[in-house]
Amino acid sequence: MSPEKILVVDDDTNILEVIKMRLEVAGYKVTTATSGEQALVEAQNDLFNLVVTDLKMSPKNGIKLMEELLLINPEMPIIILTAHGTIENAVEAIKKGAYSYLTKPFDHKELILHIKNALEKQQLTYKIKTLQTIIQEKYSFDNIVGKSGKMRKVFEQITLIAKTDSTVYIYGETGTGKELVAKAIHCSSHRADGPFIAVSCGAIPETLLENELFGHVKGAYTDAHETKKGLFAQADKGTIFLDEIGETPHSLQVKLLRALQEQEVKPIGSNCSVRVDIRVIVATNKNLQKAVEEGKFREDLFYRIHVIPIHLPPLRERKEDIPLLANYLLEKYCRKLDKKIDGITPSAIRKMMLYNWPGNVRELENKIEYAVAMCTKTQISSEDIFLTLGRKIKEIKSFKEAKKDFEKEYLIYLLKINKGHITNTAKMAKKHRSDLYNLIKKYKINPKDYR
Ligand SMILES: Nc1ncnc2c1ncn2[C@@H]1O[C@H](COP(=O)(O)OP(=O)(O)OP(=O)(O)O)[C@@H](O)[C@H]1O
Ligand SMILES: [Mg+2]
Repeated sequence: MSPEKILVVDDDTNILEVIKMRLEVAGYKVTTATSGEQALVEAQNDLFNLVVTDLKMSPKNGIKLMEELLLINPEMPIIILTAHGTIENAVEAIKKGAYSYLTKPFDHKELILHIKNALEKQQLTYKIKTLQTIIQEKYSFDNIVGKSGKMRKVFEQITLIAKTDSTVYIYGETGTGKELVAKAIHCSSHRADGPFIAVSCGAIPETLLENELFGHVKGAYTDAHETKKGLFAQADKGTIFLDEIGETPHSLQVKLLRALQEQEVKPIGSNCSVRVDIRVIVATNKNLQKAVEEGKFREDLFYRIHVIPIHLPPLRERKEDIPLLANYLLEKYCRKLDKKIDGITPSAIRKMMLYNWPGNVRELENKIEYAVAMCTKTQISSEDIFLTLGRKIKEIKSFKEAKKDFEKEYLIYLLKINKGHITNTAKMAKKHRSDLYNLIKKYKINPKDYR
């Protein structure tokens, strides 16, 4: 098992070094930061199991840092170090979510004990959560998984809407489950035994869409050898799902409006309309109100379809659903790909919680399917989940600092090649031996380290 990663934050570098050494001896992998700002950058770039932070730091103190860390990872245990006399602040920290606090000077064994306990508690909490998933804490409409407040609201809406025949307007980003919700509404309505017909209004060429939706009669045009029933007629006694409604060509919008208003369709080439008994559900990932303002979507059609709106929140706004969804999808793909995988490691879950999922549940589903297909172990670990975590908050160094870093790295590189031999290194760098010496001294490099 790889060692657990701990981030230690203190503006006193001596304390930092001592803690680092003790924790490393105890078997942990330690990263240090000398300020709250630096700690946040580290926490955005790596997955830590636990954070130990000093309380009194400026400009960002330990409590502020803790609050921001908990936003990144709400499950991360944080231990606060506090000087004598600031216990009140430490108590405040506990109230705000810190795991525990220690008063300086403290015994390092005590710190290690706190860390061990915190990590154990975290493991237990995780296990309980996984078990809860297994016993189907599904809060679901069969296959819509979620337990966040936002998803519970969606479930409530589905239950209420299913009892009616009103038009439903589902909107949300791509991959948030709009089609899934549309099917759930159909399946829990009195039309469940009738057909569910899905039409992707954006995928069918303009010239064909009218034909697909309304059908045609024999002889309506040269190639119309047979009468063809349109999708509206096929959906009779059931539900028609008009996906990507915003993509409907302008020329067809007025005909669609008529069909929805009258519950009647007129096949191409026919003089009479056919009555249809349908429930209409539409979906869009575009801001249709804006399209209306821009004249791209008819206002009357918008108001005709915008009867009962349901918003599907993006996954990044309901991250508490990620463990549940990930485990549900793991089971789904183990069944589908006939594999036996017991679970997902906490660090893999943490990695997924740090990501912001622009492709929402569909993207999560793809990542899990890939991980299941490629996994050769009993658990999916963070290496099996390929995600690019945001690195944009990295601190920008000044030109002077960046130059220093480069010079040091360059010298170490040359010393490595020349096995610590100064004269050869100086020759390669085209520098005088004495100048090179001065640089090596300046950067506190020991050439012997490279022999
Ligand atoms: N809450 C959820 N629980 C389980 N699976 C989900 C959930 N939400 C979405 N999915 C799955 O994610 C995938 C994408 O869902 P769906 O096709 O319904 O999204 P969409 O909003 O219609 O996307 P798009 O706008 O790109 O058409 C599907 O495989 C679906 O089963
Ligand atoms: Mg869809």
